[in-house]
Parts: sequence; structure tokens; C-alpha cells
Amino acid sequence: MPPDRTPETAGRYTLPKSAIRILLLEGVHASAVERLRDAGYDNLQTMPEALEEAALIERIGDVHMLGIRSVTQVTGRVLAAARRLFCIGCFCIGTNQVDLVRAKQAGIPVFNAPYSNTRSVAELVLAEIVMLFRGAYEKSVLAHAGIWRKSAKGSHEVRGKVLGIIGYGHIGSQLSVLAEAMGMRVRFFDIEKKMAIGNAQETASLDELLAVSDAVTLHVPETPLTRDMIDRRALDAMRPGSYLINAARGSVVDLDALADALRRGHLAGAAIDVFPEEPAGRDDRFESPLRAFDNVILTPHIGGSTQEAQYNIGLEVAEKLIRYSDNGSTVGAVNVPEVSLPVNQGRVRFLHIHANAPGVLRRLTDVFAGRHLNIVAQYLQTDGELGYVVIDAVGEVNRTELLADLRAIEGTIRTRSLF
Ligand code: NAI
Repeated sequence: MPPDRTPETAGRYTLPKSAIRILLLEGVHASAVERLRDAGYDNLQTMPEALEEAALIERIGDVHMLGIRSVTQVTGRVLAAARRLFCIGCFCIGTNQVDLVRAKQAGIPVFNAPYSNTRSVAELVLAEIVMLFRGAYEKSVLAHAGIWRKSAKGSHEVRGKVLGIIGYGHIGSQLSVLAEAMGMRVRFFDIEKKMAIGNAQETASLDELLAVSDAVTLHVPETPLTRDMIDRRALDAMRPGSYLINAARGSVVDLDALADALRRGHLAGAAIDVFPEEPAGRDDRFESPLRAFDNVILTPHIGGSTQEAQYNIGLEVAEKLIRYSDNGSTVGAVNVPEVSLPVNQGRVRFLHIHANAPGVLRRLTDVFAGRHLNIVAQYLQTDGELGYVVIDAVGEVNRTELLADLRAIEGTIRTRSLF
């Protein structure tokens, strides 16, 4: 075994792809497996279930790339046992199941797929809007109970109605397109300046949006500003007989205030997919003040849960892992500085992750100069704690010695090379 591939150092340096051991847990979609294999990563093991901490600690020592979904907890103890791990893929949206700080300190980028289920959420919301305007869910509940409530009363087409979208990001803007295709008039409110798509129009304030909309739908992230954004006051500012849809985050709507607005008949109905407290598993009971209302569509946080989204997540995260492994690109990493890199063209590429302290860069370039290597490209990103520098060099390179020099630089967390 060459000196740069001893058990102590393997994983810090580029290995042949066949030696890069990948463990994919929690039934990560087959699209990821296929994409990784296509890229030459076939030393790959998949498991349908999550691993508990102790079992993961036992397995992680040999693993170079780990793929999880939302259940597996990658704790500090797991990371401490991960001698060879050099990147983690979360095949889902959230990443708080990983100790991101420890992963960062270990120079391990964590990737996810924040936007692969955009379309799924937008489709569900559009469908719910139609269901609400027709009172279809309520009539279905009655029909299930043997009651035939054939009536046009309170039932409307969505064509020509005003849809107010709060948060005009990936989902909000996608929904805007779908809603216009159904003939709705779209107004939106966002704290950032956003380009209106189609005929959608921005409102000057949240209150204006609430006052003009026949249905209001939320597509904002969870932030201190969006917490209880739809409270009693905001609900009162909505048009009488309008509808509220929340498939964003549970903390955005005050559910007691919503229940009250529904009880008073101020709102004609709602569709809620996300809740301040959600059951942890199938066996836990779902409690909500909204269970009492037949004009409220309740769904168990399934806005983004489709086979297509899983397929897309598989591809997106696999692609990010491959790009990091092949090329050093950290675009899409949630815990380390993002560096976008061109494909390495026949030079030797060195990747160096270090504590962001004065003098590291100078010492890095000194190492190359001392070995008469010409640096032809250098890419650098830093944040408060970490620096990530990628150096393409030409010249007679003794890779093992050079990596040893780089590793000796004070503050070095991780270094590897790509050919
Ligand atoms: P995004 O980041 O693309 O868009 C969010 C938009 O909200 C941005 O344009 C941002 O400027 C805007 N915004 C932030 N704070 C605001 C405020 N105080 N007032 C007005 N606008 C504000 O996010 P994306 O992908 O569209 O997701 C939106 C929400 O949907 C997130 O909360 C996400 O967690 C949730 N989501 C829910 C899913 C489900 O299964 N129900 C699945 C996927 C996402």
C-alpha cells in the first residue's frame, strides 16, 4: 500500500474510486445508487433502515462517504469514530440530524437537497386550493358517513380568484405559475425583491396581500420574523370567507387563533400540512385544535413526499457527493465554505481545509514555491472559522511528500489531492 493510503491517512487523500467505501442508509432512493455507480463508485453498500448510534459507530470507521435520510443521527461520537469519512450526504431537506459543528471542525462537508421537492409541494397546494374552494373535502367526509350533500352553495371555481403567496422563493414562484395556468390572479409578498413571474404582482405589504386575497398560502422559511406571522391580527386582516394554506413550517401560524377564526366563520376553511408539534412516528397520536373542523384539510407533513421528489433528491445529493469527491467542489454544502470549481484539467489539484487563521495561505504557497511548483489556479473561500483552498499546480510533484508538508502546516484540518 502506498504511504498515502495507510489506514491512518486513507480518506484524507484521493483513493481509487473502487476503494472509496460508501454506506447508504434508510433506503436512499435507487437513483442515487445508479448515479454513484455510473460515476465509478461501486464500492457501495445500502441498508433499508437507519442505524442506532452504537451500530453506526461500529460501522463508520471504514466508511468514506455516508448517505442518510432524516432518522440517522450523526453525533459527535459517531464523527469521532469516523476515521476515513470525508463527506456526508443527507438525502432529504433538513440537516439537523448531523452534528454540523463537529463535522465542520473535522473538515467534513455535509450536503442535502433543499429544492428537489419544490414541485411536489406546489402541486399539493394547488390541489388543496381547488378542494377548499369546492368544499370537496367536507362533502367527501359526509359522503363517507352516508350523507349525500349535493349542493353548489359556497362552491366556487378558482378561475379569476386572487391567490396571495407569502414567500416567493422556489415553491412560491412555482405555485405562481401553476395557479395562473388555472386562471387565478396571483399576488405575492416577500421580504426580498423578487422578479414576478407571468402576470403575478407584488404587494407593497403583508397587510395588503391579506386584504386582497381569496386564499393565502405560506411559503416562507422558519425564522424569528416568520414565527407566528399569521396570528390573530393577521387572520383578522384576511378577507371574510377566505382560505389559509400552510405547507411551510408549523411555527408560522398560530393554530389556536386559526381555530378561533374558523369557529367564528371568518375564514371559510384551511389546509395545513405542517404543525408546531408533529408526532415523532406512526405510533404517536396527532393532536391539534384543528381536528374538530371538517372544512380543514389536515395532512401529515407530506407536501414534499412523493416518489418523484425522492428520485430527484437521490440524484441531487449523489451529484454533490460525486462533485466533491471528483473535483473538490463544495457547492451546496451546508457547513463549510462553498467553492465552485472548474473540472480539473490534467493538473494536480490539492484541497486544503484549515482553521481560518492569519498566515495559513502564505505558508501554503511557501510549500509549493519551496518545491518549485507553479500554482496555476487557486480558489479560496472562508467563513469565520474555516478556510477552504483549492490549488491547481504544475511541475514535478511528489504527491506524498507535498501532502505531508501541507499537513504539517499549523491549523490544517484535512488535505487531499486529485489527479
Ligand atoms: P425558499 O428559500 O426558496 O423561499 C422562501 C422565500 O421566503 C424566499 O423568497 C424568502 O425571501 C422569503 N421570506 C423569508 N422570510 C420572509 C418573511 N418574513 N416575509 C416574506 N417572505 C419571506 O424556500 P422554499 O424551498 O420555497 O420553501 C419554503 C418553505 O416550504 C420552507 O419553510 C420549507 O421548510 C417548506 N417546505 C415544506 C415542505 C413540506 O413537506 N410541507 C417541503 C419542502 C419545503
